[in-house]
Amino acid sequence: MKTFFALCVTTVMLMAGSVWAADEVPAKAAMCVGCHGVNGNSSMPGTPSLAAQNARYIYLQLRDFQEGRRENPMMSPMVAGMSRAEMQELANYFSKQKLTSKNFKADPDKAKLGQAKADETLCAMCHLGEFVGQNEIPKVAGQNFDYVVKTLKDFKAKNRTNDAGNMTSVASTLSEQDIENLGHYIAGLN
Ligand code: HEC
Ligand code: HEC
Repeated sequence: MKTFFALCVTTVMLMAGSVWAADEVPAKAAMCVGCHGVNGNSSMPGTPSLAAQNARYIYLQLRDFQEGRRENPMMSPMVAGMSRAEMQELANYFSKQKLTSKNFKADPDKAKLGQAKADETLCAMCHLGEFVGQNEIPKVAGQNFDYVVKTLKDFKAKNRTNDAGNMTSVASTLSEQDIENLGHYIAGLN
């Protein structure tokens, strides 16, 4: 009888556990996974993964898209009418997901040159070692190669300017080849 009771209690707890876990997924996350992938692991070209990204960074980007400081034809309509609380909820949710390995095949020579460039340019001063990020400074380790290259080119060309000058000034010193090498280094970090 005791065991039966224990079993019932465990079953109820397990059921409650799964309901609670499902409740944790913000309603609006369903709008995001089509492009950013299930759990924020994106495999769509030009689209960043959000899994394990800093909550503070995600929230600020959503706000920047909403207020027009950052523009993208796919993202800008997503945040129209979204409340600050909803943004916060989405940011918290995606920051807690696990970034899964993309098995990106970095070119070892390019990755080495990219690492040397990162050391020389002091990227770690802000992004910390191996690009793990902090607060409003994004984690870039393991981010999708084509997105890293695209966004560095956007900073260089000043198509993306919501960075308070931090990235546009650094990117202006990078050649196209540097950007490609940095992409191989950063996307290959896990
Ligand atoms: C139709 C595709 C699409 C949908 C749906 C979409 N996004 Fe995006 N998102 C993108 C693309 C593409 C970018 C990269 C924009 C750029 O190149 O600047 C992006 C960028 C972002 C960024 C910036 C990330 C970074 O690393 O700088 C955040 C945060 C984000 N999206 C969150 C969301 C959330 C939250 C949702 C759901 C409410 C969502 N997105 C829905 C396509 C989409
Ligand atoms: C002075 C501080 C600083 C330095 C140095 C710096 N970054 Fe950044 N970086 C930032 C900040 C802040 C952001 C977020 C900007 C924003 O809010 O849009 C950023 C954004 C980025 C992004 C976009 C990530 C995303 O998800 O969209 C990439 C890629 C990046 N940095 C790479 C680099 C590389 C490579 C270097 C060295 C060559 C570097 N950064 C040096 C502060 C810095």
